[in-house]
Amino acid sequence: MLVRSIENQGAEEMMSVFECVRARLETREFKPDPVPEAVLQKLLEAGRWSPSQRNRQPWHFIVIQERHTLRQLAAMAPSGAYLADAPLAIAVVTEGARLPLVDGTRAISSMQLVAWEEGLGSCWIGGIEREGVKRLLGLPEACELITVLPFGYPTDAVKRLRKRRKPLAQMAHRERFGTPYQTA
Ligand SMILES: Cc1cc2nc3c(=O)[nH]c(=O)nc-3n(C[C@H](O)[C@H](O)[C@H](O)COP(=O)(O)O)c2cc1C
Repeated sequence: MLVRSIENQGAEEMMSVFECVRARLETREFKPDPVPEAVLQKLLEAGRWSPSQRNRQPWHFIVIQERHTLRQLAAMAPSGAYLADAPLAIAVVTEGARLPLVDGTRAISSMQLVAWEEGLGSCWIGGIEREGVKRLLGLPEACELITVLPFGYPTDAVKRLRKRRKPLAQMAHRERFGTPYQTA
């Protein structure tokens, strides 16, 4: 995929899906620049084309750009106050899903990777008052709010962050639990 590199001053370069997964940073600080409509449309399409259990496609995506609403959402997100400063948020909602969290997460992952491809950061906000958000957004009772994702162009401070992960040796096993995948 062709991406605007965050590490290389926005120059366009090819980035593999793997590289996108490896480099993508959760983003909690956004520039004020708006997200272009075509890019927003692409994020929604990324959600729409995601897999779901029995292809039920149980999603609703609520696009939120009004500053007042973003601030209200932030007030209901103790671990996501930065929602208030994002130019865009998308609430990911499921209806009639057998596995709401799994179906919702598949759509969220697609949207977040495509966002990164477009030079946009985002962050999963786990700590959010779901019932309050449901009321604010007018969600029917039968709907399940998975999360509200802020999207926006990362600030320079975000670009300086480095991802940290445990070594693969602590995660990968060969054939049976406890047998190291890597011997060297
Ligand atoms: C299920 C889930 C819930 C999360 N909840 C929050 C949250 O409430 N607030 C927040 O700032 N980040 C939240 N995050 C982001 C994680 O902190 C982040 O994915 C992790 O630190 C790795 O970040 P990195 O990929 O930039 O290294 C959440 C991530 C996941 C997957």
